[in-house]
Amino acid sequence: MGLATISISLEEPVGAIRPELHGQFAEHLGGCIDDGIWVGEDSAIANVGGIRADVLEALGRIRPPVIRWPGGCYADDYHWEDGVGPRKERPRRVNLWWGQNIETNHFGTHEFLQLCRYLGAEPYLAGNVGSGSVREMREWMEYCNFAGDSTLARRRAGNGSPMPFGVRHWGVGNENWGCGGNFCPEDYAAEYKRYATYLRDFSGTKPFLIACGPDGNNADWTRRFLSKLGKFPHIQGYAAHYYCGTAGPSATEFDVNQWYELLEKAARMDDLIVEQRGLMDGFDPERKIGLVVDEWGTWHFPTPGRNPAHLWQQSTLRDALAAAITLDSFHRHAEKLVMANIAQMVNVLQALVLTEGDRMLLTPTYHVFDLYQSHRGGRSLRTTFDAPAIPFAVGDERRQIAGLSGSASLKGDVLTLTVVNPHASFPQEAEVRLANGAMIAEATNMVITHEDLAAYNTFEDARNVAVQRVATDIAETGRHVFPPRSVTAIRARLREGK
Ligand code: AHR
Repeated sequence: MGLATISISLEEPVGAIRPELHGQFAEHLGGCIDDGIWVGEDSAIANVGGIRADVLEALGRIRPPVIRWPGGCYADDYHWEDGVGPRKERPRRVNLWWGQNIETNHFGTHEFLQLCRYLGAEPYLAGNVGSGSVREMREWMEYCNFAGDSTLARRRAGNGSPMPFGVRHWGVGNENWGCGGNFCPEDYAAEYKRYATYLRDFSGTKPFLIACGPDGNNADWTRRFLSKLGKFPHIQGYAAHYYCGTAGPSATEFDVNQWYELLEKAARMDDLIVEQRGLMDGFDPERKIGLVVDEWGTWHFPTPGRNPAHLWQQSTLRDALAAAITLDSFHRHAEKLVMANIAQMVNVLQALVLTEGDRMLLTPTYHVFDLYQSHRGGRSLRTTFDAPAIPFAVGDERRQIAGLSGSASLKGDVLTLTVVNPHASFPQEAEVRLANGAMIAEATNMVITHEDLAAYNTFEDARNVAVQRVATDIAETGRHVFPPRSVTAIRARLREGK
């Protein structure tokens, strides 16, 4: 094991790490809402007004800053009026996209906003462009935000919320290049303008309107959409989706090369952010439009025995490293990104929490979000990792992945340094160099690792993969050994050097 270096510049911060970079996403899909978040007031499962108490408590500990709802693809077939008013009168609809489940609409606008209130999260509502209308979305906004005496505001009050909700974040459709209407970029840009013209400030809540961006790092969609949009001013965000997908037969079965392959795909988030922001800068040099990644995560092959339309998957140590690599990428580009939302919160794709009946477990990905909380609100610092790259193979092709990667931020005199060592077998020692001669006065070191690359948590063994506090002598030596297969978070108080 050669010595790596991690050089942290304290002088030229990249930008503030907005808490919204740690956002989440909840869709009416499989067990995310029904059974995962919502069980109803009459359930035998402990709940707070119908919302599962255990899930609420677990999510509360990682303080989701923003939650996107009701989809996803579901958003472009969702009609908000179905989900307000007395629950027993709400219509039962077929969920077109996700297994034709029956949607009771018992979890609607008020219930979602109550969830956000409990968690202290900003709501982010995705509107319906594919099968909805400008009027429908504009009325949803008035219903949520208007403080005056309109029929819709009276209706909201009659449904239990006299005070407006003040929802700021609104998505104008979802994946409109696909499930949101199969638009070409020019047609979607025209639709976007038509919608945005009528989505206005109600009672002082200026909407932050988010347009549908590319599928992955698709440059063509971005160029054509922004070029057709021209100088149209009513757009604040532009949202890409990037799923790094999978490698190997399943979420829990993969070989060492497939371990590296997936982590390397997760690391491509960097290219997406840099290249999409670069393209956007050509049209929007003052960066008035913020880049958003409102769906990201791993997406494994369907789990045998589960409905493939419900996108249920286990989450292993490998997913945890993929999440850490992604969040670190967001931090390193903090000045280029305004929001990001992992897909999804509960029981779907790279879930933070899994439930079964009245049982719940925290996935390894949850623990990464927990560890990374201390970056929120900090100033992202320019950090260079110099470690031997790790070679691997995808079939006959030779590839490599960075030996160490991570991000650093500073809040007051507290430095947070998060580091991923993806090596399947070997630890990596690194010297941590702080510019300006600053020194580490004292440090805590929290680690997520396991001897098994495919380790995961089960309802029987819910703490198989968890955060461990491990001693470090980084304050004395300036060096730290990062264990193999690990995510590390070092929190250190800095002092001036001698
Ligand atoms: O997150 C699952 C689905 O993935 C979403 O509904 C859609 O937007 C994306 O294709």
